[in-house]
Amino acid sequence: MRPLHSLIIGGTRGIGRELVDHFVHKGHKVSVVARSLPTRKAEQGRAHYWAADIRDFDQIHTALKQLIKKNGKVNHLVFFQRYRGEDVWSGEIETSLTATKTVVDALQDKFAPGEKAVVIVSSINAALIASGMPISYHMAKAALVQMVRYWAVTLGPRGIRVNSVSPGTVLKKESKKFFMRDRPLAALYERITPLARFGKASEVASVIDCLCSEQMSFVTGQDIVVDGGVSLLWQEALARELVGLSRPLSGKPKKRK
Ligand SMILES: NC(=O)c1ccc[n+]([C@@H]2O[C@H](COP(=O)([O-])OP(=O)(O)OC[C@H]3O[C@@H](n4cnc5c(N)ncnc54)[C@H](OP(=O)(O)O)[C@@H]3O)[C@@H](O)[C@H]2O)c1
Repeated sequence: MRPLHSLIIGGTRGIGRELVDHFVHKGHKVSVVARSLPTRKAEQGRAHYWAADIRDFDQIHTALKQLIKKNGKVNHLVFFQRYRGEDVWSGEIETSLTATKTVVDALQDKFAPGEKAVVIVSSINAALIASGMPISYHMAKAALVQMVRYWAVTLGPRGIRVNSVSPGTVLKKESKKFFMRDRPLAALYERITPLARFGKASEVASVIDCLCSEQMSFVTGQDIVVDGGVSLLWQEALARELVGLSRPLSGKPKKRK
């Protein structure tokens, strides 16, 4: 049987790289698009990489053409790209929204028979406000969730399922040190999270894998929050918890530092 072909936009770092590992391990053909290619030989050998800026129409169209020629039509299309530049308004819109639409438009006729799934990585900030993050990030992440619903309806008749995942803060290889250097803050975050710990990038990758698979064959247009339950808390309960007025969230006492 032909192996499944998974295309991962933004799979060279962070959560995207975890999904590349996951799919390579499962025997998929994996195509990855990012602006820069991984430098480590071991990494280059496990998947096929194309260097392209997803905001550049010509670059992305050339990359899509080449990767389909090499690996065939796609079964899974997953978007991880994140804008980290200075021009936060137009850069975010181009990178998160316009580029995602460009790729979905270009590939909607290029899905292989069998599993056909698109997963877009949004964020808990589609719904909740992090005042340290720009308004454009919140707006783009919320818009992606609505784009998912739109495409679920319009691409459904072709058998393409479209869903999103919205992670809370997750520890990636690249960010673990940053979060753990302020131990009291990390411990506080763990205390207010119902599952009492940080999530891992691999745990977001597992949810995406599941959404792509036949196990989710009748699920489309949905957003799965992956945050250990932290967004469920009502602020008053949280304030009480923080000043020690309520019972610990998990029912068993948590260590206080
Ligand atoms: N990390 C978290 O805690 C967290 C929480 C909630 C949601 N998320 C979401 O999860 C996704 C992944 O987050 P992350 O922290 O793993 O991101 P990241 O480490 O910044 O990785 C982003 C990936 O996208 C690629 N990329 C960025 N701009 C691109 C462009 N213009 N064209 C092509 N590729 C591009 C990057 O490679 P190049 O730079 O080489 O292009 C890289 O492979 C993002 O959408 C983010 O908003 C993350």
